[in-house]
Amino acid sequence: MPVTIDAPISWKNANGDDSIMLDHLQPNIVKPHVREFLTLIFLKFSDEASGRSFVRSLSADLMKSAKQHLNEIEAFKADPPVPGTPYVGLGLTRSGYDVLSVADIPDDQIFQAGMQKSDFNDPDVDSWDSYFRGSIHAVVLVADMLNDTKAQAHGKVLQLVDANPGVSVVGTQDGLGLHNDNREGIEHFGYVDGRSQPLFLREDIDAEEDRTDGTANWDPAFPLKQIIVPDPAAPDPAVHFGSYFIYRKLEQNVRFFKAEEEKLAVRFGLSDGERAGAMAVGRFEDGTPVTMQSEDGVESPVPNNFNYFSDKNGAKCPFAGHIRKTNPRGSGGFEDMEGERSHLMARRGQTYGVRTDNPNDGMIANKPEKDVGLLFMAFNSDIANQFEFTQKVWANNPGFPAVPDEFPAPGVDPIIGQVPGDGPRPDMQGAVVWGQADSLTTVSAVPRTVTMKGGEYFFMPSLAFLRAL
Ligand code: HEM
Repeated sequence: MPVTIDAPISWKNANGDDSIMLDHLQPNIVKPHVREFLTLIFLKFSDEASGRSFVRSLSADLMKSAKQHLNEIEAFKADPPVPGTPYVGLGLTRSGYDVLSVADIPDDQIFQAGMQKSDFNDPDVDSWDSYFRGSIHAVVLVADMLNDTKAQAHGKVLQLVDANPGVSVVGTQDGLGLHNDNREGIEHFGYVDGRSQPLFLREDIDAEEDRTDGTANWDPAFPLKQIIVPDPAAPDPAVHFGSYFIYRKLEQNVRFFKAEEEKLAVRFGLSDGERAGAMAVGRFEDGTPVTMQSEDGVESPVPNNFNYFSDKNGAKCPFAGHIRKTNPRGSGGFEDMEGERSHLMARRGQTYGVRTDNPNDGMIANKPEKDVGLLFMAFNSDIANQFEFTQKVWANNPGFPAVPDEFPAPGVDPIIGQVPGDGPRPDMQGAVVWGQADSLTTVSAVPRTVTMKGGEYFFMPSLAFLRAL
């Protein structure tokens, strides 16, 4: 039986090729790995032999499989819980494959060209963090629930770097989880993040049905082919799979954004910034979708079982709202729902930067203006159809989704939309009175508060390839 890629799989019942695939797949792809404390180490290889030696040792000594990760999660649920091991992941760039003299390079053309060649109206490469301006050959991700265990694993990776003189660290980036008062993960603007994810494992889909708000209005089940592809350089690409890994460092000017929420509220004639912020993001800070109700308050579990079918004019959630732009849930004007869903990706981001203020204190003047943000990370099987499409054809495009002639264009995504040269952003539309289409008003848009500081495309190969290199 070939690997099941046209549907989600049950990892507990996986046998045959599905089981072999999970034994050689890196963790964090089919299911997020805990990344409360995270370090990304960006590397260059000066020669083939040291690069190969480093990769072989790292994968043999420090990297676990997706299967082991899933078993560790089960063991952690036991009483007493058995702690898992840190996550160590490895991605290679196109130039990394070249230095390692691997002939069968993953064939996604956008991966091969690299992020510097992408056309997302990104700031000039000259303004990116310095190590992204040149070429990077590999990234190692080290993450865990505790800083100590993460730091130990980080130390072991650096020992392997030292043991291979042709390998050098060109940049390091730490990530650090951020939480609200309910201990839910939030991003720096203060909104619950990471709730809506495509799910690839039957066990996760069952848990969503049984332990959250259900799946009747939004089906989170996705086929594995949305995130994994055969690893062309592995000993047996029929069972050895990998995934394209997108990395973008997105700095957030929190003080600017929080002030802009208030100004947006004034433009819409609202009493405070709360609903204005929810109109920009598509959810209130506590995760309540603004398409479901006009105020926050649906806290636990944070809902994800919704769509925009009762919000056809954008009078509850504006068409420009970040989560509506990046997942229209059937309201994107596609004839074919599967086509629309095929653009979604597995997001595995983490916040970065240390806050000296309390992110949840409701103040503006003490909020950071730089050095904090989101390390956007995502797994794709087709970069053009997933990440690139989402950023370019949805988020950056003021004309998406197409609306009837009597309505103005929706505008760009207020969070991640980018226009050429950071010029003026097209107006956005929203309802003054929640849900009332006759109160739809067009106002000037939120300026850009998120700045891309660099990034790259990687392929996370199968362990079988890495260990046999
Ligand atoms: C600093 C940058 C960003 C911030 C602050 C941000 C914030 C958020 C928040 C608060 C949510 C709602 C939580 C959830 O549903 O999981 C969300 C969801 C989402 N974001 Fe972002 N995000 C950022 C960057 C991006 C980028 C670069 C992309 C893709 C190009 C993206 C794609 C998505 C998608 C697909 C969802 C889920 C939508 C859904 O299924 O309803 N985000 N984001």
